[in-house]
Amino acid sequence: MTKHTRLLVANWKSHKTSAEAQTWLETFRRRVTDLGPQLNSTGKPTMVVAPPFPFVPQTVAALVDVPHVSVAVQDISPFPAGKYTGAVSTRNLEGWPISHAIVGHSERRRYFHETNQEVANKVSVLIEAGITPIVCVDAEYVEQQADVIEKQLRSRCVVAYEPLAAIGTGVSQEVAEVLPVVDRVREAFGAQTAVIYGGSVTVDNLDAYLLATDGVLVGGASLDADEFMNLVEKAVSP
Ligand code: PGA
Repeated sequence: MTKHTRLLVANWKSHKTSAEAQTWLETFRRRVTDLGPQLNSTGKPTMVVAPPFPFVPQTVAALVDVPHVSVAVQDISPFPAGKYTGAVSTRNLEGWPISHAIVGHSERRRYFHETNQEVANKVSVLIEAGITPIVCVDAEYVEQQADVIEKQLRSRCVVAYEPLAAIGTGVSQEVAEVLPVVDRVREAFGAQTAVIYGGSVTVDNLDAYLLATDGVLVGGASLDADEFMNLVEKAVSP
């Protein structure tokens, strides 16, 4: 049995208009509120909503008083505040209750050419700012990614194991293949590290990943608030 609170992370990527975000937030808020007593009496998962940066203020405003819910960002500048046009630094987020930041997502590595070292630098700035990094890794570079993160910071990360072949494809990875990678992540990042799984998580395969890991990072199935809430309800149902 895991010691970590289970995380259910909704990663919207760059989807949605502000109006669509608002509709999502209102539905989500209503359904989480309806679930209230059940959430308090069971395993208490934490739901983490990761909108695009422009929707952070409205997401915080909609969810700040909802128990078991927190707000994340999908990336962060590896640099401090300064002359870095287009970047969002941790200083820009000061005053906002941001619990987590996703870093090193395979889409960032692939389309924005991010390196393990840049991801490690992001981890450092985030932890300094009191934000928990969710470091995404694929099996082939678990150890290399851990190696470049400052040793004492590794176990303070949540690590999301996201096999490339499973992201957005509808073909999730078998739990039997996930488990050895989870072990490798704990070996590389520290035995206490929270490890979550991402890649075509749906209401039908959720249970298996929640048994094998500390939570899930959900892309496609998080875009519709009702669909995401179906996952949440599944996670809290006895
Ligand atoms: P998916 O995305 O759930 O659509 O596969 C997961 C992710 O990229 O974090």
